[in-house]
Amino acid sequence: MRIMVIGLGYVGLVAVAGLAKAGYQITGVDINIKKINSLNNGKIDIYEPGLKEVIDEARLNQRISFKNIAEIKNIDCGIVIICVGTPSRPDGAADLSQVEYTIEWIKERTINSLTIIMKSTVPPGTGELLYKKYLAGFSYKINYISNPEFLREGQALKDWFYPDRIVIGGNNNKAIEEVSALYDSLNARIVKLDITSAELIKYAANAFLATKISFINEIACLCDCLGADINSVATGIGLDNRIGEGFLKAGIGYGGSCFPKDVRALNFLSTINGHNFELLRATIIVNSRQRLLPVQKLRSYLGNLVNKNIAVLGLTFKPGTDDIRESPSLDIIRLLLDEGANVSIYDPIRKNLNINLFRKDQIRFGKNILDTVKGTEAVVVATEWDQFIDTNWSEIKIVMNEPFLIVDGRNCLDPCIINNCGFIYSGIGRAK
Ligand code: UGA
Repeated sequence: MRIMVIGLGYVGLVAVAGLAKAGYQITGVDINIKKINSLNNGKIDIYEPGLKEVIDEARLNQRISFKNIAEIKNIDCGIVIICVGTPSRPDGAADLSQVEYTIEWIKERTINSLTIIMKSTVPPGTGELLYKKYLAGFSYKINYISNPEFLREGQALKDWFYPDRIVIGGNNNKAIEEVSALYDSLNARIVKLDITSAELIKYAANAFLATKISFINEIACLCDCLGADINSVATGIGLDNRIGEGFLKAGIGYGGSCFPKDVRALNFLSTINGHNFELLRATIIVNSRQRLLPVQKLRSYLGNLVNKNIAVLGLTFKPGTDDIRESPSLDIIRLLLDEGANVSIYDPIRKNLNINLFRKDQIRFGKNILDTVKGTEAVVVATEWDQFIDTNWSEIKIVMNEPFLIVDGRNCLDPCIINNCGFIYSGIGRAK
């Protein structure tokens, strides 16, 4: 069977790779000509472990082709998967313009009946609205299925091939079964339900995980007040099966292209539907506050930050990705610059910032960890890259200046090792 995947970002490319591996014939389509050219030259513009290998293998087996949207005159395949972006609008709502454009584009080119699978994250209720607005009564029968993704950046292939569950929402049983069959090779648990409930599962899952993070961050702040250790507390509560160990890592909060955007969109959706989702708003407030903590900790040890030299290790919103969207690290750097500090930065993947976030003369990119921390009074660890955890901290101490402060924004370092090297260690909610 031939399948078209529209939108070749993280989600689209992983879908292309996963379905091609399962033996389907895939056409990957994108509006970005540069992206298509580089994919056709064997290059992938995102960092996702293992993705290139799976795509290369599928290419070799002639299972995939990549095309610019303008090259497609007719759509003659039975399934089209939409994976375009749904960014935040200034008011927090999801911007659905790419999704609507894509549906109109599909309609104009359809020459047979087909099934549209929506993988883009759209607010609950959107599928039914889109169906009524564009698809109901159309000359070809078009089924609409909501099939949200739960892929984590950096582990997306693993999540594709070994999903906890697959959610398929639709109003036509035949189409639900057709989509369900795509995942036969995965032997996964499949939840079949209506479109709006499927859409809500995606938002509720992200909002719940984000809330779990903000909850543990509140407990971490309490640990700081009481002299308790958040890592031990998190282990102790996570061992209760009803709570679970995942997403209990305290620190400077969640970032990335999903949690912040989806939590805001769910909050917006609740408000316009007359529900005051107080818990979700608290999640957002706590998350914004966590990003301020490293700067507050620096101030409490260094006093005024004017002309203080501070290294920030880590730019990406988490390890294993090159993605810096809504990364807490960026806010920390911004705050440090506002306070007049001199900031040096190092990230194992992001060697520079191609975006105009900061003036070039305000920051310095180090060549490696040692070069970055040289001459600084304090280091903030903003992303828990292995490279930072495994570094030789005694060597770091030699090139730094007093008071040799390490602010561990991800609680990823061993306080004993850091203290034994002669540093002051300050984590988020960790006993000294
Ligand atoms: C998240 C979800 O985990 C995926 O299931 C979902 O498909 C995806 O969003 C999406 O909506 O597309 P992702 O954004 O890649 O995936 O990253 P996560 O690994 O979930 O981490 C999100 C943020 O939470 C990171 O900034 C991470 O550092 C932070 N985090 C995570 C914590 O602060 N503490 C934790 O215990 C776990």
